[in-house]
Amino acid sequence: MPRTTAPDVAAAKGVRKIVMLAAYDFTSARLAEAAGVDVILVGDSLAMVVLGHDDTLSVTMEEMLHHVRAVARGAGTALVVADMPFMSYQASVEMAVTNAGRFLKEGRAGAVKVEGGRAIVPQVRAMVAAGIPVLGHVGLTPQHVAALGGFKVQSKTAEAAAELVADAAALAEAGCFAVVLECIPAPVAAAVTRTVPIPTIGIGAGPDCDGQVLVFHDVLGLYDRMRPRFVKQFGELGKQAVTALTGYAEAVRNSDFPGAEHSFSMASEAQTAFEALLTPGGGEKDGHRA
Ligand code: KIV
Repeated sequence: MPRTTAPDVAAAKGVRKIVMLAAYDFTSARLAEAAGVDVILVGDSLAMVVLGHDDTLSVTMEEMLHHVRAVARGAGTALVVADMPFMSYQASVEMAVTNAGRFLKEGRAGAVKVEGGRAIVPQVRAMVAAGIPVLGHVGLTPQHVAALGGFKVQSKTAEAAAELVADAAALAEAGCFAVVLECIPAPVAAAVTRTVPIPTIGIGAGPDCDGQVLVFHDVLGLYDRMRPRFVKQFGELGKQAVTALTGYAEAVRNSDFPGAEHSFSMASEAQTAFEALLTPGGGEKDGHRA
């Protein structure tokens, strides 16, 4: 099967639901691929769930590139989207194009994602003009956590909701192939989905979006530091992992692991000769080393 492209995702609006997953390494990309996920987002949420930071602000271009390359090696047909980290695109149009280009050229991503609305339209236009597919992201934009005062539901008033619709429309007009809507009331997400010509991909934005995105570790129950209300956990792999690791630790301590089936043998003549070499005076003939 050919690799999914940004135009394929754009064309899915109104045809079928788009499945996106934030995943961060080779193995998780392969698992997402096996599950038939359409888009793998190498989200800057890796700062929290992989690197253990309290927010997404400190992750760097180099750290993101490292993970994007690993995901690109693991993804077969899914579109790989690289999340542009905080301050890799906000300061200037030139910086945005240069850094986005690195994700396609060095990271082998098929698109990039940026957070923000009308404020970053110049950057979006320039990246799109350079041939870089761009996924927008409005609503709760975690890179603005300091300004927002925490991870909170956005667009709760009529005025704020209208601003969000205008931001999403501006991103579509600037050339984004789709837009993520994070943590906004479901009726607002439904209105954006109705009014913008590009697919909306929701996370905490209700059921009416054109697609949904969740974080790998949240879907599988691997991250217990924070569990937003919008997360549905589809597995309990964290618990299973602790059970398995406890079994491993016990087996080592009881000398039950490794058994013969996990060990390598040696030809008996080689072993006999080896033991002779270890015996004091062994392996010597007429006082000389054999
Ligand atoms: O970084 C991320 O994983 C994201 C998604 C939650 C949309 O931005």
